[in-house]
This record gives sequence, structure tokens and C-alpha cells, in this order.
Amino acid sequence: MIQLPPGAYRHATDRWGSFKRLSTTLPEGSIAVVDRRVARLHPTLLPALKARKPRAIIQLTGGEVAKTFEALEQVLVAGLSMPRSGTLIAIGGGTIGDVATVAAHLLKRGVRLVQVPTTLLAAVDSSLGGKGAVDVTVKGRVVKNPVGVFHYAEEAWLCPEFYASLSDTQRREGALEAWKMVACIDEALFRSYVRREPALERMVKDARRLKESVCAQDPYEQEGLRRVLNFGHTFGHVLESVSRFKLSHGDAVGLGMLCALDVGRAMGITPEDVASQVEDALHEGPGVLGRKRTAELLKRAKLNDVTALLSADKKAGRGGELRMVLITDIGNAVVRDVSEDVWRKLWPAWTRGVRP
Ligand SMILES: NC(=O)c1ccc[n+]([C@@H]2O[C@H](COP(=O)([O-])OP(=O)(O)OC[C@H]3O[C@@H](n4cnc5c(N)ncnc54)[C@H](O)[C@@H]3O)[C@@H](O)[C@H]2O)c1
Ligand SMILES: [Zn+2]
Repeated sequence: MIQLPPGAYRHATDRWGSFKRLSTTLPEGSIAVVDRRVARLHPTLLPALKARKPRAIIQLTGGEVAKTFEALEQVLVAGLSMPRSGTLIAIGGGTIGDVATVAAHLLKRGVRLVQVPTTLLAAVDSSLGGKGAVDVTVKGRVVKNPVGVFHYAEEAWLCPEFYASLSDTQRREGALEAWKMVACIDEALFRSYVRREPALERMVKDARRLKESVCAQDPYEQEGLRRVLNFGHTFGHVLESVSRFKLSHGDAVGLGMLCALDVGRAMGITPEDVASQVEDALHEGPGVLGRKRTAELLKRAKLNDVTALLSADKKAGRGGELRMVLITDIGNAVVRDVSEDVWRKLWPAWTRGVRP
């Protein structure tokens, strides 16, 4: 059998169970990167890890501060003595997973990575798909994710006990990202979610399966197929920015999906009834915050700033044109260039908090 190099694309191997049970399979001498808050909230975590005689346990503060060069360097220094066959395990939310992925890629030109996502957002989204990145500060401003790698995890451990300490906002965030995938990719699942709100574990399993199916076709983002995962992210990022990141990423994406439905309707791509079904489902299911919140945020924003944010969007086309994921039908989405006058016409309704 040909051995894949560490970090190369492989089908996601998900293992479900308690951390204590799964940790018995962790090779001795591994390096662990752990969210400090998770370690504090779950007192059995560190003893279970220590029982596996790790080379080092690096505790980082979760949040974007974990995605700095300083934090990355800390992990790299701790991993210097690790052999190429070593394992790096990341236990935390998306920020811990992202910095650990970069470190796993760099150490010895690539070591085994195990992801243990502890937020719902990380479980449904960031811990799968191979991407990791750190932030860079340019003239005092943090630019998110410009320096990154593809380095697929060999395994992900899904330990439901960690999700018990998440806040309602954190749960909603993960749920909104999961519904995003369902609405764009899987009609049958969307209908079943509308009939009955899925249990948390079911939702994580479904979202991971859907994301995996997209990544399997385009593991290194060369075909553009993964763009569908960005539904709601164009205006989501704008809202996140104008709130000065007070609005959580998932909540911003939820509101961004409503904007994308409006853009789709305005361009004749998203049929009225499809838009209504998705909007209703986002209210009743994950509990999208709603148009009043969009209005509060956009009213404070300057149109020029919004235009600048949109043109800085990584997903913009070569000529700087806005490129958005729009729903054509439940379970189907396309990528389309959107001219400025389309969203400008929607602006008055968005700033009043009403459906255009
Ligand atoms: N690599 C990818 O494909 C990808 C995809 C989406 C998002 N991301 C990245 O993921 C990051 C966001 O992820 P996140 O929302 O998980 O952020 P995070 O890692 O900052 O976690 C959010 C907060 O939750 C805390 N936390 C973690 N687990 C907890 C638990 N079990 N109980 C209570 N609190 C807990 C953390 O300490 C932190 O304060 C962003 O940096 C984003 O760029 C990456
Ligand atoms: Zn997202």
C-alpha cells in the first residue's frame, strides 16, 4: 500500500466517543495544543492527555490571539524534538485547530495531525477540509487568514462532552453553518430538518458528511467547487467587520445568508418561494438573528467602507467584481458575479430591516 505523506488529502476519519476513551489511542510522545479555557472547563482533559506521556502540552488562549505568529512559534518550538512520525493533536475551537494545522504542516515538513474540535463551529466546519491559517497584523490592523496551508487531519475525534459547556450563541453559530451546507447541497436533508429539528450530534454528522463530499472533489480548492461553502459569507464578513467583530462569525453568516437570498431574488436566480422557505427555516431552525439586527449594523456603516470591504473579499473576481454564492433551488447553488448596483438597490431595505 502506498503511504500518503502526512497532511495529504484523505477521506475524513471521524471517531466519536469520550475524550478519555479516544485518548488511549494517542501515540506517546505527541505534542498537544489545547485551548486553556477548555482544559479549565473539563478537568478530566489534562489528566487523560498526560497519561499518554506527551512530549509537550501547549495551552493557548482561544480566539484570534491563538492565530498569531507568536502562538505559532510557541507550538513550533515545543515540537522541535518531535520525530517526523510524530503526532500533533489540537484540542479546541477553530482558532486552535487553525494554528495547529499550520504547525503540523511546518514541523519536520509535515507531521500527523489529529483534530479534536470543541466548538460546534469547529466540529461542523473548520476541523474538516485541511485548511489552517494564521493572521497577520499590517499597520496595526489584523488581516485574517492570509498565511495558510492545506494539511489534512488524519483523524478527527468528536467528543460530545465538550459541547456541553458551549453558550447558546456558540451553539447557534455552529447550527447556522450546518444549515448553510444543508440549504445549498442537500434538498432531502433540508426538508427533513424543516420537519424536525435535528439533534446536535446528528447535525454535526450530516454537516461533516456534506463538507467532506465537497472537499473530496476539490481537496486543494483548485476547481472552485468549495466556493459553495461560502454561502452567506460575502455580506457575513461585512457585517462581522462593521460590528467590529462583536457579532459572532456564525451569526454574521446567518444574516449574510438573508442578504444572499435577497441578491439572488433581485437577479432572478433565487425563486421567491425558495427564498421564503430558506428564510423561514433559518428563523425556525437555528434561529437567525433577523433583519432588524442587519439594519442596526448597516445603518452605522458608511457605504464607502462597505464597498471597500466587499472589494477586499478574498472571493472577489479577478477584476474585483463581487462573486457570490446564490441559491437556485433548495439544495443547489451557483456562483455568480454581482454588480454593485444590485446590492445598492437593496441597501434601503436592508438598513430599514425589511425584506426588499
Ligand atoms: N480552517 C477552516 O476551514 C476554517 C473554517 C471556518 C472557520 N475557521 C476559523 O475558525 C475560527 C473560529 O472558530 P471558533 O468559533 O471555534 O473559535 P475559537 O477557537 O476562538 O473558540 C471560540 C471561543 O470558545 C471557547 N471554547 C472552545 N471550546 C469551548 C467549549 N467546549 N466550551 C466553552 N468554550 C469553548 C474558546 O476558548 C473561545 O473563547 C476563526 O479563526 C476562523 O477563521 C477556519
Ligand atoms: Zn463560516
